[in-house]
Amino acid sequence: PGEREENETEKGLRVQDKGFLNTAVIRSEITYIDGEAGVLRYRGYPIEQLALKSSHLETAYLLIYGSLPTKEQHRFFESEVMRHSVMHADSEGFFRSFRYDAHPMSMLTSAFAMLGSYYSEANPSLQGQRLYTKGDAASLATMDRQIYRLIGKSITLAAMAYRVRQGRNFVTPPTGLSYTGSFLYQMDHLGEENYTPNPVLEKALDVLFLIHADHELNASCTTVLQTGSSLVDPYSAIAAGCASLYGPLHGGANEAVIRMLISIGSPENVPAFIEAVKKREKTLSGFGHRVYKTSDPRSFIVRKTADEVFKVTGKDALLETAMALHDAAMKDEYFIKRKLAPNVDFWSGLIYRAMGFPLDFFPVLFAVPRVVGWLAHWRQMMLQEGGVKIWRPRQVYVGSGKRDYVPAEERV
Ligand code: ACO
Repeated sequence: PGEREENETEKGLRVQDKGFLNTAVIRSEITYIDGEAGVLRYRGYPIEQLALKSSHLETAYLLIYGSLPTKEQHRFFESEVMRHSVMHADSEGFFRSFRYDAHPMSMLTSAFAMLGSYYSEANPSLQGQRLYTKGDAASLATMDRQIYRLIGKSITLAAMAYRVRQGRNFVTPPTGLSYTGSFLYQMDHLGEENYTPNPVLEKALDVLFLIHADHELNASCTTVLQTGSSLVDPYSAIAAGCASLYGPLHGGANEAVIRMLISIGSPENVPAFIEAVKKREKTLSGFGHRVYKTSDPRSFIVRKTADEVFKVTGKDALLETAMALHDAAMKDEYFIKRKLAPNVDFWSGLIYRAMGFPLDFFPVLFAVPRVVGWLAHWRQMMLQEGGVKIWRPRQVYVGSGKRDYVPAEERV
């Protein structure tokens, strides 16, 4: 019906780039990736060096503010983040309003949005102004407070989403523990006196948090920036990013990997699974990446961390199957030709499983540290020269030409 119309009324160049394969939407100083060489750097520092020598919160400071903190800057940042990890008591009712079997990512996404209602100082609509101006100390302090709050509260919200499903009381964030130490304490604390998380697991989780902290313009970060470009408060923008991360092609892949390994069952079933992937009946979760055309450099760090964790927890029963699957895929022509190699999610789920996290909690363990990267990009965009430009892409219209309305009784 009607003539087809292809943007006949608007002339000029319009590029359609499905999936943004070739579109750069920002200039950024935060994270560098060379997908062909398998290189990842935060603010110029190789991810391998940071994983070995830094901590998640020190790296968070680096990503957000651009340089490694001095001892004093680190102490101040850490104490602000930890101080802000406490949640308002009202939020307990919010978590208790979910069904007993709610997915923790649904809870976390909603919880970030809920946080926005607590802090009107972060809401430009309520304040009636553009809030953040480079060089204006008061506005930068307001921005910093939202950053401390979001990083601090994300571990507490995640722990609340975990405990509420188990019918357990919530735990007030402790003092004196590290970021991941506090998180593990809030997750697992059963009331023992002088409880401290296992230091090997605490460190392993810190390394995993650090390497998940940023990865430039992935789907969730792009969502945060797109949402933030309307100048909405950062809590709403982070909630949007969290929703984007939830999908199995992105942050949900670590959960999908374990479900896949369980379905394969044992190493002897690997060849049949590989054949099914090649016939496109199955997806090899944890393999492939939009940017990396070789192994994801984070996957080596995760693999090494897994060995540390297994020394404490014992080997995961699925490890043998995972190794057989990895080795089979790496020498199969289908995967070689398409440059498909393990991404960060291939091994991370095995660590989370060994540490006792439930399967559907895995994407939460990705989202919590990624809050840092989302905030680094959000801050960069808010303070960019010339102010924020709303992200409003165009389409190539291929629908009907003009048609006249036909009353219902005359339609055939
Ligand atoms: N298993 C089997 N085949 C695959 C896989 C895979 N995991 N990934 C890509 N391919 C194939 C595609 O079918 C396509 O083949 P074709 O050219 O014959 O049609 C080719 O490889 C190119 O893949 P695309 O889908 O075009 O790559 P794209 O960049 O769009 O997608 C993605 C990247 C989504 C990560 C994809 O590789 C995938 O689905 N992987 C599995 C899910 C996963 O692990 N996601 C986590 C990503 S990392 C992260 O978010 C931290």
